[in-house]
Amino acid sequence: MLTTISGQRLSKFCFGTMQFGQGTDRNQSQAIYAQCRHAGINHFDTAHAYTKGLSETWLGEFLKNERDNVFISSKVGYTGGSEPENLSKQLEESLSRLGQDRVDILYLHRFDPDTPLEKTLNWFAEQIEKRRIRYIGVSNFAAWQVTKAQFIGQQFGVHISAAQPMYSLVKRQAEVEIFPACDDFDIECFSYSPLGAGLLTGKYESKGIKGRLAEDARYAKRYGAFEMHASAKALYEISKRYNVSSATLAVAWVLMSPYRTTPIISGRTSEQLSPVLDALDFDMAENLFAEINEISAKPAPATDRLEEQA
Ligand SMILES: NC(=O)c1ccc[n+]([C@@H]2O[C@H](COP(=O)([O-])OP(=O)(O)OC[C@H]3O[C@@H](n4cnc5c(N)ncnc54)[C@H](OP(=O)(O)O)[C@@H]3O)[C@@H](O)[C@H]2O)c1
Repeated sequence: MLTTISGQRLSKFCFGTMQFGQGTDRNQSQAIYAQCRHAGINHFDTAHAYTKGLSETWLGEFLKNERDNVFISSKVGYTGGSEPENLSKQLEESLSRLGQDRVDILYLHRFDPDTPLEKTLNWFAEQIEKRRIRYIGVSNFAAWQVTKAQFIGQQFGVHISAAQPMYSLVKRQAEVEIFPACDDFDIECFSYSPLGAGLLTGKYESKGIKGRLAEDARYAKRYGAFEMHASAKALYEISKRYNVSSATLAVAWVLMSPYRTTPIISGRTSEQLSPVLDALDFDMAENLFAEINEISAKPAPATDRLEEQA
């Protein structure tokens, strides 16, 4: 079980700070950090690649007086590949921005097909040895890559402790292999974009709405499929019937899923964050969970034998 340095269990939500410094100014970011702490969140996610370093810098400033009670996840290797030299440079920059000598989880941000995992995992093992990181994570890895990393890590006496895949009602691929593999290897999953980057708030039901899907071509493509928008609309209709925010339902659904994955939530403003935090106390009845579960297709099992799917 992963814990803070002071030994506390991690909260049911992790808060992702990818917006700190881009879309969210310093005052608003600090207010959001306080709002999360007030709600009991003790786990914050950032990355070397985020917002030209402001995400790490501000997070480091906000938590500096309570470091041992706050769990910091950061990531390296989004750019420049996973050769040790690049990872070392990025980790040193991340630590310096955070004002820390150690992060809790350090994720490899994405798989690098051009660098042998042996080199990368040897490097991770050295960082544990040097007390620069407490746990090793991998993000955006396929299940076979997680598995390979887990076995190679054994050569260096280290365990992959965490995986960070994408997961929401409209992005369910992780159900097929990543979650079962992580469960089998005792790897904790922290899944990002539980709102489908805003799609599952229902706001795109109206025309001319501002937001990431309207402004960022990468995200517009990631969430462009007609079926995803149809699922978001269906969730929105359910939310109106229950008089609860679509965002609350989307995040509560992840929380209630049988895959034991911690959602990495986010919001650009405190107002956006409120209905997301409401999911912490939302008691979703089983029939409502089942109804929501049906609004997007469950992915086929890895064997493709549909008749054997539960
Ligand atoms: N490992 C990786 O590769 C990776 C990738 C992505 C994210 N992450 C991590 O996961 C965290 C969360 O990801 P995410 O931001 O994509 O999560 P998300 O919860 O799916 O989307 C959050 C976004 O939805 C919109 N939103 C949230 N609440 C809303 C509300 N009540 N009403 C209207 N719009 C609302 C906001 O964007 P707009 O206002 O712009 O619409 C907000 O920034 C990130 O901060 C980061 O730490 C990791």
